[in-house]
Amino acid sequence: MRLVAHRLGKTYRQADGPVVRGIDLEVPDGAFLALMGRSGSGKSTLLGMLAGIVRPTAGTVSYDGVDLWALTDSRRSRLRATRTATVFQDYNLLEELSAAENIRLGARLARRPLTREEADAALERVGLAGLGSKRPDELSGGQRQRVAIARALASSPGVVFADEPTGALDERSGAVVIELLARAARAGTSVLMVTHDPAVAAAAQEVLVLRDGVIEERLSRPTAARISHLTAAREGERA
Ligand SMILES: Nc1ncnc2c1ncn2[C@@H]1O[C@H](COP(=O)(O)OP(=O)(O)O)[C@@H](O)[C@H]1O
Ligand SMILES: [Mg+2]
Repeated sequence: MRLVAHRLGKTYRQADGPVVRGIDLEVPDGAFLALMGRSGSGKSTLLGMLAGIVRPTAGTVSYDGVDLWALTDSRRSRLRATRTATVFQDYNLLEELSAAENIRLGARLARRPLTREEADAALERVGLAGLGSKRPDELSGGQRQRVAIARALASSPGVVFADEPTGALDERSGAVVIELLARAARAGTSVLMVTHDPAVAAAAQEVLVLRDGVIEERLSRPTAARISHLTAAREGERA
């Protein structure tokens, strides 16, 4: 799915000024982008506007040419449910449902119902064969996040929004999760990921660094070393 933002901005009510300012961004099919920037720079607000969750106060967001924020609330909700998926740091799984049931519920909400066998196959694709009956509290953090990714991908979304997907994971399970997102991107699903970790961001095709609501730097074919250098230089500038 092609996602385009044009002059996108957000000023919260009772705020001093805009927290996102005039962002132009084009995310082609199958792109894998990482969004970085210090706390408060506007990353979550930007992701929320792109995902159809936070209403912009300026500019537009479009999915394959459809102006997301010009739609009625119910049409926008439906487009979000069928074309997008989200992955969060804390997994957002329902604790009382099994892994397979979590995936089937997500797919049903996205209007792509799955059989139990299909849910098991989705788990197998993220390396969790045979764990469909386990509840989240019987799984490790890395396994839970893989269930969340299986759930996100089960509805064949055009774009996945991931806010700190490895934030609660150790390095090794984080790397597995990131490889799954990279694989989804190679298969044509666009991925937009917020992260603080240069090693994680290095898996993306491009890194965007946000500062005070504007994209201050873009780094193509990033390496962890170049990202660290860039973000460290910015920190130094502020000091
Ligand atoms: N709902 C809200 N109402 C008012 N201000 C908000 C709201 N959400 C975020 N902000 C403010 O907007 C700025 C950017 O926040 P955010 O987008 O969460 O940044 P980041 O994700 O980069 O930490 C911060 O100053 C934050 O306090
Ligand atoms: Mg945030």
